[in-house]
Formats: sequence, C-alpha cells, structure tokens
Amino acid sequence: MYKIALLGAGFIASVHMEAWKKVDGAEVSVFFETNPEKARAFQEKYGIAHYDSLSNLLRNENVDIVDICLPTFLHREYVEMAANAGKHVFCEKPIALTIDDAATMQDVCRRNGVKFMVGHVLRFWGEYVKAKELLQEGAIGKILAVEAFRLSVSPTWSVDSWILKPDLSGGAALDLHIHDCDYVNWILGSPKEVFAWGVRSVAGSLDHIFTEVRYEDGAVASIQGGWMMKGDFPFTCGYRILGEQGVLEWTFRAGVNIEERGQINPIILYRNGEGRKTIEVSSEDPYCCELQYFFDCIKEGKPIEKGTPEQATLALKLALAARTASESGVVVRL
Ligand SMILES: NC(=O)c1ccc[n+]([C@@H]2O[C@H](COP(=O)([O-])OP(=O)(O)OC[C@H]3O[C@@H](n4cnc5c(N)ncnc54)[C@H](O)[C@@H]3O)[C@@H](O)[C@H]2O)c1
Repeated sequence: MYKIALLGAGFIASVHMEAWKKVDGAEVSVFFETNPEKARAFQEKYGIAHYDSLSNLLRNENVDIVDICLPTFLHREYVEMAANAGKHVFCEKPIALTIDDAATMQDVCRRNGVKFMVGHVLRFWGEYVKAKELLQEGAIGKILAVEAFRLSVSPTWSVDSWILKPDLSGGAALDLHIHDCDYVNWILGSPKEVFAWGVRSVAGSLDHIFTEVRYEDGAVASIQGGWMMKGDFPFTCGYRILGEQGVLEWTFRAGVNIEERGQINPIILYRNGEGRKTIEVSSEDPYCCELQYFFDCIKEGKPIEKGTPEQATLALKLALAARTASESGVVVRL
C-alpha cells in the first residue's frame, strides 16, 4: 500500500480525498492543515492523522506521496519540502505564481529523483480528452481556430479569502483561466503571440479576461475565463473547435458549483454534407483519473507525460503573458 499525505483540507483537498479512495493500492493516511476548524472537520469526516507542521509530518510519518492542495502562493515552498524529503509530489494547478518558482520546483524534484505532476485536470476530463482524440484522428481536419471558455460566480469558500487576493492567487486570469490555457496548448502546441483584455474586481484582481493567441502553425485561439458571474449563474465551460473539414462543439452548464456535474452534454460534430453527430463520453471522475494516472506512473516507473511541470509552466507563461498584454495594451511575443 502506498501512503499519501494530503496537504490542505479545503475545497480541492476534499475532491482529492474522495478520488484517492477509488485508487487501488493507495491510501491517504495523514493530512496537513493549519486552520484548526478545517482540521477538526476534516479529521471528523475522514478519521486520519493530522499535523499542523509539514516538517513534523515528514519526520514522523512514513509516506510515499505528498499531494499538495494548498493555496497557490504556498505551492513552491511545500513542493520543495516534499521533494527534499524524497517524496513523489502531486501539486494542484497553477504550478506557481511566477516562472522562476515553477523552474525551482521542477529543478528540486529532478535533483531529488522524485516524480512531479501538476493537476491540469482537463487532460483527464472525458469531453476534453475525447476532443483531443477526435482531433488526432483527423475528424475535423487541420485545426484553424479554438474557442475555450470557463465562467463561474466568485469562489467565496477560501480561508481568509486568499483566492480573491491578486498577490496570493493571481486572480481568475491565472487560477481559473489556466485550465483552458493548458488545454489549448495541448491541442495547438506552443503559443507565439498573445493579446488580452481583462477587467478587475473591486479587490483589484484580474477576474475576467479574454485572451487571444496565435500559435506556431498559424492557428488562433480565443480563451475566456472569469469568476465574476452573478447570482445563480451556472458554472459554464466548453469549447468550439474549427477545422478545415468540420467543427467540434461542447458546452457544459452545471449548478452554481462545478461539483454539481450530474448531467451529460454530448460533444457535437458538424461536417459539410452530414447531419450533426452527437458523441457521448463516459462520466468518469476526472480527478480520480488524474490521480490514478499519477499513481500508475509511480508504481510502474513510467515517465509522466500529462500534467508535466513543463506543460504547467507553458500554461503559466501563457496566462502571465495575457496579464501583461491586458495591462500594457500590447501584443506579447513568447
Ligand atoms: N483542479 C481544479 O479543478 C481546482 C479546483 C479548485 C482549486 N484548485 C487549486 O487548488 C489549490 C487550493 O484551492 P482550494 O479551492 O482548495 O482552496 P481552499 O481555500 O478551499 O483550501 C486551501 C486549504 O489550505 C489551507 N491552508 C494552509 N495554509 C494556509 C495559508 N497560509 N493560507 C490559507 N490557507 C491555508 C486552508 O486552511 C485550506 O484548508 C489552489 O492552487 C487552486 O488553484 C484546483
């Protein structure tokens, strides 16, 4: 049995906790959390050992994997501690707030010979994976243009509202938007030119952004992300991918929160001379799929190819370039 230390007891830590339960041969045996109320509630629910210091945890507990579900501004510090203790590391996205931090994290994991994966979950999300497969099979021919979008109401659950503070989370333009930045990179490769316009929330955070990208082979993308939606606006995400021979489209609308993701919306394929074709995708838990993948890579000694620190860093570069473009009003060349 591989033992896992879960870092954090917040929103995504609970999602990971449930997902790890479905991974055969893995067990979350201990968690780290500094907020006493969060710690108490998590311990009552899951009945596992708790520490409020990671160094004590690493000294006293024999774990193989550290799963970091902490606020983004803490990612670098905790990845370094875990890797220096010789543990394999899974870290939630965004990898970090700066490229320098991301490079340090990658370096420390490499030097310690531990596996390092970043939670770019769209690479495991049924409808995103299926679209990638269809594109690779040539279902719509050469890709010309991609639209991707992700919209939600403000996340209000975070401890001390760290997520709404631009210096701690980077705002929606970094936090939420980075999912689609990574996905579009996965489809189109290396971004070359970036322009963006965004708006700030009252807290000064860049929380709604339109990012326009030109890729190496001339394909273009328009990526929209924001968490300034109001009232009961449902969590909404999706894509529209235009190829020389067809269009792939998928839109998902959940309850107010992404967790309420019960309904199935099919992908739709449009091609000239053919009726619209609906493609249903099995609704496996994407968080479970990504953690299972990470676990299998460790167990079988395979290299990680999805959610690599390089991919996470490229997504961060794109999101940071969008922020720079939005602030300066000029096109950023990568
Ligand atoms: N992959 C996804 O779909 C997804 C979804 C949500 C969040 N995330 C990412 O996961 C990470 C955590 O986000 P979350 O929504 O779970 O946040 P959260 O605020 O719900 O949870 C963070 C936890 O870290 C703890 N913590 C420890 N030290 C802290 C400190 N110094 N300041 C504040 N909190 C501290 C908090 O008490 C809390 O339990 C972020 O990087 C976020 O971007 C990813």
